Amino acid sequence: MKGYQNSFEQSSLSVIGGTPLEGEVAISGAKNSVLPILAASLMLSGKTRLHNVPHLKDVTVMLRMLNALGVRAEFNHSDGVTIWNEKKVRHLAPYDLVTAMRASFFVAGPILACRGYAKIPLPGGCSIGARPVDIHLKGFEALGAKVDIEHGFVGLKADRLVGTRIPLSFPSVGATENLLMAASLAEGETVIENAAIEPEVMDLMNFLNKGGAKIQFEVPNSFRIQGVSGLKGIDEYHVIPDRIEAGTFLVAGALTGGDIRLTGVHSQDLGSVLALLRQAGVHLDVEDTSIRVKGGTPLMAVDFETEPFPGFPTDMQAQMMSLLCVATGKSRIKESIFENRYRHVTELSKMGADISVDGQDTIVTGVPELNGASVTMSDLRAGAALVISALAATGESTVFGLSHLMRGYCDFPGKLAQLGARIIPR
Ligand code: UD1
Repeated sequence: MKGYQNSFEQSSLSVIGGTPLEGEVAISGAKNSVLPILAASLMLSGKTRLHNVPHLKDVTVMLRMLNALGVRAEFNHSDGVTIWNEKKVRHLAPYDLVTAMRASFFVAGPILACRGYAKIPLPGGCSIGARPVDIHLKGFEALGAKVDIEHGFVGLKADRLVGTRIPLSFPSVGATENLLMAASLAEGETVIENAAIEPEVMDLMNFLNKGGAKIQFEVPNSFRIQGVSGLKGIDEYHVIPDRIEAGTFLVAGALTGGDIRLTGVHSQDLGSVLALLRQAGVHLDVEDTSIRVKGGTPLMAVDFETEPFPGFPTDMQAQMMSLLCVATGKSRIKESIFENRYRHVTELSKMGADISVDGQDTIVTGVPELNGASVTMSDLRAGAALVISALAATGESTVFGLSHLMRGYCDFPGKLAQLGARIIPR
């Protein structure tokens, strides 16, 4: 294992395909939970201790952000982070950190709520689409903030945030999270309608409530928030397991014809992924906190569309496409969340996949096998898809752009190697 600990610093992975993955793998804490939770800690006075925090580049960026904003935050043991907040939060988010990671924009709501004034660089586009923040900003305005965009910075100002009804035009995960945080300290009641209800949003709600917020989830997709005057540090909080990491290992097990058991998962968060894998012929034994995947069964084409939770997650689209590349028949995929999330297609084609793209729609025609090739990751999930394809392909592959993978998978090469994968960071 030791040799893999620093694998993030390497720039490519050499993968020799053809070995079925076998054994047990522990799933880490959810990246998409811990990032907003860390941002929310700006609002909690005193000491907060988090557990099940994954060692990821994105987490490091958020810890640097908290420290830059005047809150002390650091890893204190393998998966634990302690945060000390003396309520001296600064209002200006550093440009380099926001541009390094879009999720840094999560600090907007907390700073606005604590200080009444925030200045945050616009996060801008990214490799999977334009990703504006208009829904976040409209929500802040509804809460009474004045929003100015000047010289690439968003200025937010409000003497007092006041609760209101906020119907979202789209259930944006980030906007829902930013507004949950800001509304927690607003005066009176806020109702966020057409909200995102991803498990990570629920995790943030539970975290805020443990710190003294009063947020209630209302079926099917609203949050009712009674504003409070302050939030307090939390002794112990356990971040939920990463459902996307879990889904990625399930596909890897099925694709390599392996037999692996995932531990430390929340199976109920993986409903749409498990259903689609079963429909594609994958054998799964599902318990509440563990899932065993047994490959070797014939894979069949399936059609799917990415959707907000509880639909099939866009963050699993690329990995599922890898599986369907070698399934019998034609699969139709529609990417409905992001406009430019097919950059793995060209790379999978280099490995012999037969895929055609038409706007948001893709047709994957299964081929008997993929062949090793030199390919490049364009983003985090595309990267994971290429690595698991390489594990199933014949011969050797070199997968470049490892820095994408280190953003969101906790020691992915190391965990795969433990399962018997022939994978070496270079
Ligand atoms: C979060 C996840 C990301 C996941 C995505 C969708 C984190 C850190 N990241 O990203 O892994 O892929 O949810 O499940 O949690 N949009 C707007 N205006 C806005 C906000 C969003 O037009 O103000 C659009 C985006 O461009 C995108 C879609 O809405 O096309 C979904 O975005 P959103 O749900 O906000 O995703 P993120 O929170 O950025």
